Amino acid sequence: MATLLELKDSRTHFCTFDGIVKASDGVSFHIDEGEVLALVGESGSGKSVTARSIMGLYSGSKIRQSGSIVFKGEDLSKANPQRRRELRGRDMGMIFQEPMSAFDPLSSISEQMVEARLTHFKESREEARALAIESLRQVGIPEPEKRIDDYPHRLSGGMLQRVLISIAIMNKPKLLIADEPTTALDVTIQAQVLRLLNGLRKEMGASLLFITHDLGVVAEIADRVHVMYAGKIVEKASVRALFSSALHPYSKGLLDARVTGERKGKPLPAIPGSVPRPSEIAEDCCRFAPRCPHAGPRCLREEPPLAAAPAAGGPRNDEGRELACWLYNGGTE
Ligand SMILES: Nc1ncnc2c1ncn2[C@@H]1O[C@H](COP(=O)(O)OP(=O)(O)OP(=O)(O)O)[C@@H](O)[C@H]1O
Ligand SMILES: [Mg+2]
Repeated sequence: MATLLELKDSRTHFCTFDGIVKASDGVSFHIDEGEVLALVGESGSGKSVTARSIMGLYSGSKIRQSGSIVFKGEDLSKANPQRRRELRGRDMGMIFQEPMSAFDPLSSISEQMVEARLTHFKESREEARALAIESLRQVGIPEPEKRIDDYPHRLSGGMLQRVLISIAIMNKPKLLIADEPTTALDVTIQAQVLRLLNGLRKEMGASLLFITHDLGVVAEIADRVHVMYAGKIVEKASVRALFSSALHPYSKGLLDARVTGERKGKPLPAIPGSVPRPSEIAEDCCRFAPRCPHAGPRCLREEPPLAAAPAAGGPRNDEGRELACWLYNGGTE
């Protein structure tokens, strides 16, 4: 299948009063056309920064970006801001974590949707409004011809998230990025909204980069999953392979934490310890070593590269599985 998006050694670093924050630090992956790729990891691992970098939302003198982001054959790291704006909202759509903050509270839904359409397409306001109403209907907003003139604060969180989805799909993008699209919603509504999003995505034949903490959701909608820790991808696997045997100690920890959480009827408890603050990340060792039950001397000496998991004799190498862990790449001694 054709590749839609490919990141190669993509880095986004911020210059802050505390030093350089290497939020996304050498990330490489691809998404095929029509594919759903999940990016998982604890809070602070760099998922949102990676997503926003793809959308081209970072600019300015305090931000350092390198590597390449190739979308439909075009290297976006070389594209100018105008080209990035053209693509954003037309060829790539993003659904953010917090529905309320994505809206301008002083403009009606109609104004915001018409604007989102007319920025990219030459058509009349009436045409854009009709399309917006149709798009609201698709995401299950009742009486969209009335609701469209509401202001954002009149709608519930679940409804607003539906409106955000309808804005993201209105221009039929090839790539959708959903950054924890349901965390702000009630559990009962979460599943509905996700199925809706995935159904619409399938109809459009779009690809989805799906960012979440929730491994249960990953199993339901993703094809492949990448586990991210402290700015780097530590394991790449098909969903089936990850759930049948997570190999990286961090991925295992995430999966175990989920099982324990379910047993106790609680949401995901953290693996002991926490993602290091970016200013505390040591560069010449495995970033997970301080929390890893298997860490050996080498893990504190050398950073493990992301490499193909060993096949014969070792764990099965399912469809391009990759790991950044000395346990699977020559030993931890
Ligand atoms: N604009 C910024 N300036 C400085 N540091 C930033 C900026 N944006 C993000 N960071 C830092 O980069 C790191 C990664 O942040 P990011 O938002 O990508 O995490 P995340 O994986 O999306 O977490 P969550 O699951 O909580 O959304 C964090 O330590 C965060 O504080
Ligand atoms: Mg985030």
